[in-house]
Amino acid sequence: MLKSDVLIIGSGMASLQLAKLLSRDLHVIILTKSKQNDSNSYLAQGGIAASISPQDNDDKHALDTLEAGRFHNNKQAVEEMTKHAAVLIYELANNGCLFDRNKDGRLLLGMEGAHSESRIVHGGGDATGKTVVEFLSKQLTDNITIVEDFFVDELLLNDKNECIGAKGLNAQNEKEAYFATHTVIAAGGCGQIYEYTSSAETVTGDGIALAYLAGAKVYDMEFMQFHPTLLSVGGKTVGLVSEAVRGEGAVLITEAGERIMKHIHPYEDLAPRHIVSQTIYSYLKKGEKIYLDSSPVENFEKRFPSITKMCKDHQINLAEKKLPVAPGSHFLMGGIAASLDGRTSIKGLYAIGESACTGFHGANRLASNSLLEGLYMGKELANLINRNKETKRSWRIKEGVLPSMPIYLPEKRELKRKMMEHVGIVRNEASLVNQLEWIKSFGIKDYRMVQKGNYSKQEKETAFMLLVSWLITKSALERTESRGGHFRKDYPFEQTEWQNRLIMQQLERNEQ
Ligand code: SIN
Repeated sequence: MLKSDVLIIGSGMASLQLAKLLSRDLHVIILTKSKQNDSNSYLAQGGIAASISPQDNDDKHALDTLEAGRFHNNKQAVEEMTKHAAVLIYELANNGCLFDRNKDGRLLLGMEGAHSESRIVHGGGDATGKTVVEFLSKQLTDNITIVEDFFVDELLLNDKNECIGAKGLNAQNEKEAYFATHTVIAAGGCGQIYEYTSSAETVTGDGIALAYLAGAKVYDMEFMQFHPTLLSVGGKTVGLVSEAVRGEGAVLITEAGERIMKHIHPYEDLAPRHIVSQTIYSYLKKGEKIYLDSSPVENFEKRFPSITKMCKDHQINLAEKKLPVAPGSHFLMGGIAASLDGRTSIKGLYAIGESACTGFHGANRLASNSLLEGLYMGKELANLINRNKETKRSWRIKEGVLPSMPIYLPEKRELKRKMMEHVGIVRNEASLVNQLEWIKSFGIKDYRMVQKGNYSKQEKETAFMLLVSWLITKSALERTESRGGHFRKDYPFEQTEWQNRLIMQQLERNEQ
C-alpha cells in the first residue's frame, strides 16, 4: 500500500509552496497528471500583487480587491490575504527568488487593471510564474516525491466519510491507490472547458470534479473570469497578452484606430477585466477586429520577452505595434468551498489555490491576486498540517459510495465550443437552458452519474470537464443578475439581494 502523510494533487505554485513549508519529517507525495511544470502557475505572466510602495497600503489593496470582486467577496479573506502579501513576497525574495528590481535594488512594481497603485511584483519581465515555480521546485527536500503522468479519478473515503487518499491511473495506465492522512487538491481551475482560454492544456477542472463527486461543497461556479487580451491568430487564441502591457500604456483600438475603452470606465483600458472583456466582445460580435496598440510601451521586447516570443512564433510583426486580441477564459473565482487554510467540508480533504473558493476573489478576481492566494493558502495549510502531525485515520475504505462516470461522453471540442457560445462572456436564460439540456443528454441525470466500463485517461478527463460545465451552467442559470465575471443579458444589472448570496452545490450521498 502506497502511503504518505500528505498527498497533493497538482503541482502548481500553491502545491509547491505547501510542500516546501511542510515539516521535513512528513512524507509528501505530489501527483500530477502531466509533467511537473504543466500548470497555469508556470504560465503566469503579470505577477503577484502586494502593497509595497510607500504610497500604497493593505487597505487600498483590499478595497481594489473588493471593488473588482463587486463586493461579493469574503471580507475576512480579503483583509487577511492583502495584509500578508508583502511578507509572502519578502519570504521568497530573501530566500533567493529573483524578482525584477531597479538599479538601486528595489523591487520593480508594475501596474495592472483595477489597481489604484503600482503593486505588481514580477520576475523575468513577464515570466513571474516560471520564476517562482522554478525557485520553489529547487527548494523541495527529499521527503517529497513527485509522481508525473498520474491521473487521479477518485478520492478515497473511509467508514467515517473522511478522505484518506486517491486512486487513478499511473504512467503505465495501471490502476493505483495512494493513501494519505491529509489529501490536498491543488489542481487549478477549469479554463480548458472553454474554446478560447489562456489556460494550460491540463487545466480541465479535475480537482473540482473529484471533490464534488466525493460530496464536498462547491461555491460560486458561475463566476468565470474572461481575460480581455489573448493573442488572436487565425480565429483562435494562442496565449495570454498580460494586462501588464496595458499597465505600461498600451491601449485597445479598432482596425480604424479608434480607442474602445475611452468613455466606458474611469480607468479606461485598465478597467476591471469583465468590463474590458465585455466591451471587446461587443465589437467582435459585430465582426470587427480589436487590437492592442503597443506603441506607448517602451522597450517592449525587453519588458515582455515571453509575449515577444509568442508573437514571433505566430508571425505577428511587432514593429507594427498592433497585436490582435480576443477575450478567453482565464480564472475560476468559484470552486471547492474552503477555509483560508484550505479545509473543505470533508475531513482530511483540503483545497488550495484556484481549485478552492474562499471568497477572496468575489465575483471577479483582481489581477495578480491568484498567485498571492496560492502562496498564502499553501503556507497556511502547511502550518495547519504541521500542527496536526499526529492525526490518526481509519484506513477502511468505504467501497462503492462514489459515483463514477457519465454514460455518454461529448466530443471535447464540441463541449468547449458550446460552453464558449452559451455560457461564455454574455449569457442569457435561453442559452443556459439550451446548454443544460445538452449536457444532461450525456447521462448526468438526476444528479447521478453511473459506472461505465474502463474509460481511458482522456475519456475520464472529458467526463470531469462535462461535470464542471454542468456545475457552471446550473449556477449561471440560478443567478438572475449580472455581477463581475457573470454577465446575463436578460438580467444586465447587479441586484442587491444577490450580493454575497452564494450558490452552493453538493452531491448528496442519498442521491446516488
Ligand atoms: C496577466 O498578466 O494579465 C494575468 C495576471 C493575472 O491574471 O493575475
